[in-house]
Amino acid sequence: MIAFEGLFLIYLTSAVFFILSIKGLSSPTSAQKGNFLGIAGMILAILATLLVIPSRNDAGILFALISAAVLGIFWAKSVKMTALPQMIALLNGVGGLSSLLVGMAQILRHQEHLFDTSIGIVIGAIAFSGSIIAFFKLNGMYRFKRFQYANFLNIIVLGVLIFCWVQFASYNTISWAYFLILTALIFGGTITMPVGGADMPIMISVLNACSGFAAVGIGFAMSNIVLIITGALVGASGTILAAVMTKAMNKSLFQILFLKDLQTQNTDMEDKIARTASIKDAAFLLENANKVIVVPGFGMASSKAQYALKNMTFLLENKYHVNVKFAIHPVAGRMPGHMNVLLAEAKVDYTKVFALDEINPDFETADVAYVIGANDITNSAAQSDPSSPLYGMPILEVFKAKTVIFVKRSLNAGYAGVENPLFFADNTLMLYGDAKKVTEEIIAEL
Ligand code: TAP
Repeated sequence: MIAFEGLFLIYLTSAVFFILSIKGLSSPTSAQKGNFLGIAGMILAILATLLVIPSRNDAGILFALISAAVLGIFWAKSVKMTALPQMIALLNGVGGLSSLLVGMAQILRHQEHLFDTSIGIVIGAIAFSGSIIAFFKLNGMYRFKRFQYANFLNIIVLGVLIFCWVQFASYNTISWAYFLILTALIFGGTITMPVGGADMPIMISVLNACSGFAAVGIGFAMSNIVLIITGALVGASGTILAAVMTKAMNKSLFQILFLKDLQTQNTDMEDKIARTASIKDAAFLLENANKVIVVPGFGMASSKAQYALKNMTFLLENKYHVNVKFAIHPVAGRMPGHMNVLLAEAKVDYTKVFALDEINPDFETADVAYVIGANDITNSAAQSDPSSPLYGMPILEVFKAKTVIFVKRSLNAGYAGVENPLFFADNTLMLYGDAKKVTEEIIAEL
């Protein structure tokens, strides 16, 4: 057994581990170390809690811990890269649910700080039900659309929630606590349901921030320093990520939560002709270029082309002395950092990987933009067509390169369902096929 002062110090140490972990996760070189620091901080916090807090059911706690750890490891190892956003949504939901349950346990034991506890409970309940809806939407199991009276419904539910909260604060009774939880759960669902598919990653970051702030609320109610610090870290990082992504998509949170998405265009593509290239043409253009910028997108992830891409760039650099750079759009793929993770997995030199603002001025001097499985993030209508649903979203300006090679299987639209006028531009060549297969064929040709 350790004393409570000891517990405070251990909690403080694990909080330092969490802060160092976030710092580590901010760069591909230190990300793995950052992950291990986070794991160490969490193990420390759990062990300290087990040693200090008296339990009436050691066997039950041990069983819960081991089975949850096994489940977590199995789940994380088996999840597909493309299904990570759903997994993150569920994990956020579980975070919110635990704050809700811990807060409820506090209330049922009639401890002090009932109002403080209710803050954690309400935010936790919103994070929980919102994340469950987000999971279903991302998994393609439900396609809720923004219905006509969605905003009206949200205002009504929010009004009822505030009413229940005031009642709970005034009377502190269990029945008002149940009403409060129920309305918070309903509000989490109704506010998430109408959010458009392309905006779900932002909504997940918002829900992630909510699960963190819920833990802060419960941490204050229980005077638990590790909950307050970790909750604040999660809340702040979720908020910052949501802000970065809304900026990348040129939207506001208000727009995402309350306004209808613009309808996707349905322009007729039939009378337009896209020029095509063969493997030989592409290899010729690439080996004779001085500067090539590779633009990966969701198709690279789904065909697992990152290893072939790494080999192709190795050949171009070492055999043909081409200067190769990688351009990453903040919303490329289907989750934040999707492309960075995959390129790091294939051991692409991270000093050659550039963010949108850094790389855009480079396209003008690039001989080839090799766009592999990307579409929306290059769509020039985002700059030129005010009627486009993508209008205003910053894009990778591949159209400025001397030649643009699009590697994809067809002229089909990307995630946003919007036609890309760039496919028909004079300096564009379409290279149809699976991203990995095409890149391997180019390697063979090189
Ligand atoms: P997309 O616009 O979705 O385009 C991907 C393209 O890859 C598709 O047009 C598809 O064309 C092609 N493709 C699919 N499988 C392929 C394969 N095996 N081989 C070759 N090509 C393949 O992707 P993007 O440019 O990366 O843009 C991301 C989009 O997703 C944005 O609209 C963004 O808002 C949205 N989004 C992003 C996130 C985050 S946080 N990153 C989360 C959710 C949604 P074909 O069918 O013709 O091959």
